[in-house]
Amino acid sequence: MKDKLYKLKQEFLVKLSEVKDLENLKELELRFLSRKGELGELMKNIKDLSGDLRKEVGQVANKIKNELQESFYQVSAKFIKNTNNTLIDPTLPGLKQQSGHLNPITLVQNELEDLFSSLGFIIEDGPELESDYFNFTALNVPPLHPARDMQDTFYVDLKNSQGERDLLMRTQTSPVQIRAMLKYGAPLKVVIPGRVFRNEATDARHEHTFYQLEGMIVAKDINFSNLKSLLEIVGKRLFGPDTKLRMRPKFYPFVEPGNNGEYTCFLCQGQGCRVCKNTGWLEIVGAGLVHPDVLRAGGLDPEVYSGLAFGFGLTRLAMLKYNINDARLFSSGDIKFLEQF
Ligand code: PHE
Repeated sequence: MKDKLYKLKQEFLVKLSEVKDLENLKELELRFLSRKGELGELMKNIKDLSGDLRKEVGQVANKIKNELQESFYQVSAKFIKNTNNTLIDPTLPGLKQQSGHLNPITLVQNELEDLFSSLGFIIEDGPELESDYFNFTALNVPPLHPARDMQDTFYVDLKNSQGERDLLMRTQTSPVQIRAMLKYGAPLKVVIPGRVFRNEATDARHEHTFYQLEGMIVAKDINFSNLKSLLEIVGKRLFGPDTKLRMRPKFYPFVEPGNNGEYTCFLCQGQGCRVCKNTGWLEIVGAGLVHPDVLRAGGLDPEVYSGLAFGFGLTRLAMLKYNINDARLFSSGDIKFLEQF
């Protein structure tokens, strides 16, 4: 066995010294050094030898293998240097660089943030783990108020700094209205994008985790026409210059009057189609004039200040804009879905 190995080494070195081009070199590598090559085949037999002999032959074989590889590398390095012929084949197609990109919700969020900053709004963040007080009570939804049923949430079994168990995953970005008023006072123009959570039975249109963009203006003499004109500007920016807005009454505890802003369907221009369920209108934004109790909770005097507030569902906007038919796809981690944007 050892003899065979030495013979192989001899033969390999002679052949190596006769190599003329890269082609020869590759042949040599295949014949001797590759796993199915002659050396590899010999080494496979070592395991059948017994005891000490196996150890001895194994060591010799490994030594020879290293020597052969070393001399092979030396010769091939010389060849690569000396010829224009490199081991890289420049005619092969290149490997495509994988680059990351933005989630469609982020695209819509960026678009709205650009619009609102151009209108003079600041952009504010708030905590996703929120207190019951900010998420509900300060927004005019006291404990036991039936309006709490509108948004079922995930309560968290943790105590706050006062030792009370009042933490929950925020159901809306609206608590940051209060936080922003307390932080900045008035006058104030702020938008708040963010992730919100609801205890929903999920289906194609509902997901337990989704994204909103909240907006608020507080100043002296803010009135309903300010709200309407602002929502008109946003609608035209989102869905095109011919977009019309209609506002229908809707109850939200933190605004009075509260309403739902609907835009003419961008797909059928108000004619009626599958996307707008044949109504010609898309329900896009909850809005209203800030309730006096909410201003008070924000530390402001409702006799002096008034405000408007609105909230968009970013998830819903992204679904409309990119024609996505299932809200669950956004956080599915499905690369085939995400790569389309
Ligand atoms: N927070 C409301 C919701 O999540 C939306 C809203 C925001 C409505 C601001 C009115 C004013 O449904």
